[in-house]
Amino acid sequence: MYFLEVKNLTMRFGGLIAIDNLSFQIKEGQIFGIIGPNGAGKTTVFNCISGIYTPGTGEIIWQGKNITGKSPHLIAKSGIVRTFQTIRLFSHMSVAENIMSGRHNKSRQSWLSGMIHTPFYKKDEKENWFKALEQIDFFDLADYAANEAGSLPYGIQRKVEMARALATEPKLLILDEPAAGLNDKETEELSGMIFKIRDRGITVLLIEHDMDLVMNTTEELCVINFGRKIAEGTPEAIQNNPKVIEAYLG
Ligand SMILES: Nc1ncnc2c1ncn2[C@@H]1O[C@H](COP(=O)(O)OP(=O)(O)OP(=O)(O)O)[C@@H](O)[C@H]1O
Ligand SMILES: [Mg+2]
Repeated sequence: MYFLEVKNLTMRFGGLIAIDNLSFQIKEGQIFGIIGPNGAGKTTVFNCISGIYTPGTGEIIWQGKNITGKSPHLIAKSGIVRTFQTIRLFSHMSVAENIMSGRHNKSRQSWLSGMIHTPFYKKDEKENWFKALEQIDFFDLADYAANEAGSLPYGIQRKVEMARALATEPKLLILDEPAAGLNDKETEELSGMIFKIRDRGITVLLIEHDMDLVMNTTEELCVINFGRKIAEGTPEAIQNNPKVIEAYLG
């Protein structure tokens, strides 16, 4: 059984076929990459996996269960969490609060226990803070914890977004162009973070334009163009594939 299996996925927007009969499989513990030129359909694949879009046809099988068309909330709860190509933080909230917000779908509290602060509420809240602090430590964000997220440099905001995603304790972390807007030093640091995340036992699915990052971090790649898979394999094999070279140069 695969960890995540995308089977014959098709997604249309009016007359446009954004994803065309796409299939790929991810194994547990992998760092798996999806690459392709602008507009190839990469983000749309993520939107289907995370439940933002319901594909026209095809299936998404997650740990043996069909999750196609399930709500984003349920999919996140089942352990798939993503970041966005364009950073989506609560810009007027602090870094710590943003990371805490990732815990919301984990909380088992009712509004009543929140109002009267039952012992159960307090325990849950403590656990939320503990998990948020773990991420602050992991991403070396302590110096910024109290800062307004929106006021921070882009590279830091990217880290906060990843920290928020990890605070939910996902099994699969989906990153949509995490290196976009980062300088070379930050990109190198990001590549180290991705390995460390994987070493925490989290499977990583990555969309990325930065070829150095893709080639250095991923173990397997799926290349798409016009919504269709044109190649898949190891980064080494992909780099020398004439179809891939043509798609990028053409
Ligand atoms: N909500 C939508 N409505 C209509 N068309 C859409 C929508 N979302 C995506 N598309 C179209 O689907 C195609 C695939 O878009 P998608 O954003 O998935 O590409 P991408 O590979 O992520 O590109 P990029 O590298 O620029 O982020 C594009 O032609 C895009 O214009
Ligand atoms: Mg995209």
